[in-house]
Amino acid sequence: MILVTGGAGFIGSNFVLDWLAQSDEPVLNLDALTYAGNLANLASLQGDARHTFVHGDICNRELIDQLLATHRPRAIVHFAAESHVDRSIHGPGAFMKTNVDGTFTLLEAARAYWQGLEGEAKAGFRFHHVSTDEVYGSLKPTDPPFAETNPYEPNSPYSASKAASDHLVRAWHHTYGLPVVTTNCSNNYGPYHFPEKLIPLMIVNALAGKPLPVYGDGQQIRDWLYVKDHCSGIRAVLAGGRLGETYNIGGWNEQANIDIVKIVCSLLDELRPDAAGPYSRLITYVTDRPGHDRRYAIDARKIEQELGWRPAETFQTGIRKTVEWYLANEAWVAEVQSGAYKDWLSTNYQAR
Ligand code: NAD
Ligand code: DAU
Repeated sequence: MILVTGGAGFIGSNFVLDWLAQSDEPVLNLDALTYAGNLANLASLQGDARHTFVHGDICNRELIDQLLATHRPRAIVHFAAESHVDRSIHGPGAFMKTNVDGTFTLLEAARAYWQGLEGEAKAGFRFHHVSTDEVYGSLKPTDPPFAETNPYEPNSPYSASKAASDHLVRAWHHTYGLPVVTTNCSNNYGPYHFPEKLIPLMIVNALAGKPLPVYGDGQQIRDWLYVKDHCSGIRAVLAGGRLGETYNIGGWNEQANIDIVKIVCSLLDELRPDAAGPYSRLITYVTDRPGHDRRYAIDARKIEQELGWRPAETFQTGIRKTVEWYLANEAWVAEVQSGAYKDWLSTNYQAR
């Protein structure tokens, strides 16, 4: 049994689905079901005895203690977080609470549980912390990609909160010996991506004939990785990563935002042509994100060389699968576009 936190979110739900598609080891899934958590992502697991869902908060120490004592997991894979940079700019408090306090609470509960284990159970226990490339800050055009040795230079409330959580995880290993591994991954995309992040927002806005809001000059660069490749990277590190080490995960796929948007538009032109004309007509440049990081890029050689991990998808194959998934799952999109989603759109875009 493994304990997954945040397993109803975008990456967490993909991870749970992939895990149970490849193994019969049960998953205990703890998620607070914030705006980003969605049990519909896990609908295919209904009635599957290998998956136990618990609606709860990682800041609730009593609950975590009780879950660990009852279910005796051999590992914790920690996804739960506030994850959206724009939301962290509008309201950083929730990020400090979940990403910093929540990780601290989980580490303390894991430490107490692990210290009570014996023999092989103790030696084999793992705390896998899922983090981001944003902790390294922003690269200049000619800088080499982020390596695990890069200094931490987080620039947004979100990345600062994730950096803080990474530091806590590191310290719990060095001070208490907690067997931890950390992964720092680049931008994910794929099925079940909440449509307020760049790629799904562009797909759903285009289909609705709405403007495609590109921040600033659209020349910001991100490295994009298909979500299932992130999941396979996490499985590789959980199985074989060296204790206390961090591993960068990326797709060797740097692209400017405007190019991503144009690729999405041309795939939609092919797969769901619009009589009104090419979807790129909807591209609208809007006021930039404050403190917007200019470029991220990942040097993934450590995980490749130590653990033999490689992404299975190219951007071309992954983005086509993604657009096809959104076209085939319009009911999922309609369901997540609730009243709360509309409130966010007016908070983030009305004054731009
Ligand atoms: P997400 O926002 O889609 O999902 C987060 C999940 O955590 C949701 O299901 C939410 O309900 C849950 N959650 C939030 N607060 C909680 C709390 N206090 N207690 C329990 N559950 C809580 O996020 P995501 O994009 O799936 O990201 C998952 C993890 O991966 C995060 O730690 C994020 O920092 C990291 N990450 C994301 C990306 C990316 O591109 N999305 C890239 C690298 C790393
Ligand atoms: O790098 C990994 C990170 O990637 C993760 O840690 C975060 O959890 C995840 O949300 C993502 O952060 P970004 O800020 O890069 O993702 P987002 O989809 O919000 O934005 C991607 C880029 O697109 C970014 O440069 C901002 C830009 N953008 C975004 C939105 C929502 C726009 O131009 N227009 C938009 O409307």
